[in-house]
Amino acid sequence: MDTRVVKLAPSILAADFARLGEQVAEAGEAGADRIHVDVMDGHFVPNLSMGAPIVRSLRPVTQLPLEVHLMIANPDMFLDEFSEAGADSLIVHWEGNNNLSRTVLRIKALGKRAGVAINPASPAAVLEEILHDVDQVLVMTVNPGFGHQHFLNTTLPKIRRVRQMIDRIKPDCQLEVDGGIDTVTAPLAIDAGANVLGAGSAIFDAREGITAATKRLRAARSTAAN
Ligand code: DX5
Ligand code: ZN
Repeated sequence: MDTRVVKLAPSILAADFARLGEQVAEAGEAGADRIHVDVMDGHFVPNLSMGAPIVRSLRPVTQLPLEVHLMIANPDMFLDEFSEAGADSLIVHWEGNNNLSRTVLRIKALGKRAGVAINPASPAAVLEEILHDVDQVLVMTVNPGFGHQHFLNTTLPKIRRVRQMIDRIKPDCQLEVDGGIDTVTAPLAIDAGANVLGAGSAIFDAREGITAATKRLRAARSTAAN
């Protein structure tokens, strides 16, 4: 039976930005564990989203940890800014970073939790040497850049491989999945070993509303545990 505690990280990419504070508060009251902030620069991914001012505005209105997912070409340039704005975790990509260890160690030196993300085409093995230094791995279950995409089932075996690696090398490292997570795909990802669910449209675009959607996803469990 799977006894891991699964955490829920609603992504505000799908929120109504005119009502952001309100919507984040609603997700928090309904049981969200942290808030996921997707930062895109139009270079690393073919889309633009938001920057540190959003983190700064959210910081006083929620007590939930803010995790910042940096999908940007030069994350090192912005670590200080996001840190000062009130981020609790900074997640950077393996792809395109020639000095990932330096970036991760800088995040730790800022007193923040460090995460490393990998895209669907990147193998689990690239995490092996950096895992000692990270608090969290994020396995992209869609190609980064947009919300509302379909979960890629082909990432499931990789999630299992990352889980095995974490259990062997750094058992307290968290394993987040991000992209296309809903009540159907969450149990698959949890079965494969994920213990943090990043979810945008399934929470903030849900027809049943944010509260009901957060509660439903919060209740998602490994099918093996039921
Ligand atoms: C994709 C982002 C995800 C995205 C998830 O590039 O990193 O966090 O917002 O959105 P959904 O849950 O709609 O796939
Ligand atoms: Zn994300």
